[in-house]
Amino acid sequence: METQEIKNTMPRIGDIAPDFEAITTTGNLKFSDYNKESWVILFSHPADFTPVCTTEMSGFANESNFFEKHNTKLIGLSIDSIHSHIAWVNAVDEKTGVLFEFPIIADLDMKVAKLYGMLQPGESETAAVRAVFIIDPTGKIRLIMYYPLNVGRNMDEIKRALIALQTSDEHKVAMPLNWQPGDKVIVGAPKTLEGLAARKADTELEQIDWYLAKKSIG
Ligand code: BEZ
Repeated sequence: METQEIKNTMPRIGDIAPDFEAITTTGNLKFSDYNKESWVILFSHPADFTPVCTTEMSGFANESNFFEKHNTKLIGLSIDSIHSHIAWVNAVDEKTGVLFEFPIIADLDMKVAKLYGMLQPGESETAAVRAVFIIDPTGKIRLIMYYPLNVGRNMDEIKRALIALQTSDEHKVAMPLNWQPGDKVIVGAPKTLEGLAARKADTELEQIDWYLAKKSIG
């Protein structure tokens, strides 16, 4: 079977998140307004009333206090109608007591899915892949994940990545492999000989080599 050409744009890390207006479960929404003064996690799921998606959306809903504490708003998306979304949210709430309070975009015309590279025809021509975009309060895309239809995402990793980005911004540091909150962070390599001398004299740092040093942050 021939693959239909789908005009997707693929946003990149560092791009300004493409703006859009959409119908959502909490009403009509303009993304750039929603993103004002807070981080946003925009994520897509392939379809309502499907098992993996239900576990993922419940995972996001169960972490609402965490995301609020980290100044982060959630917004979901799938290529389903608003009626389907409302029926699914209601069904999950009735069956499990978990309410998806964050807005879910009804992207029937695939406008937002195409803007964010969520339609990947080798995987599906009609359903969005499992995408995650972490967008900072200036509107810049800071992290992107794409997962296929048959593998659910990892909530611990999404939370870890968000904390890592926010900590990196606050302390101007980088995070090593498998970094977890509380672990030491990586400080930038010196760019001058004077900087190197200062680095060598700094007894607070864990210095593995001149370009690789770690420190604790409070
Ligand atoms: C699911 O969420 O279970 C699912 C959705 C679309 C394709 C495969 C699995």
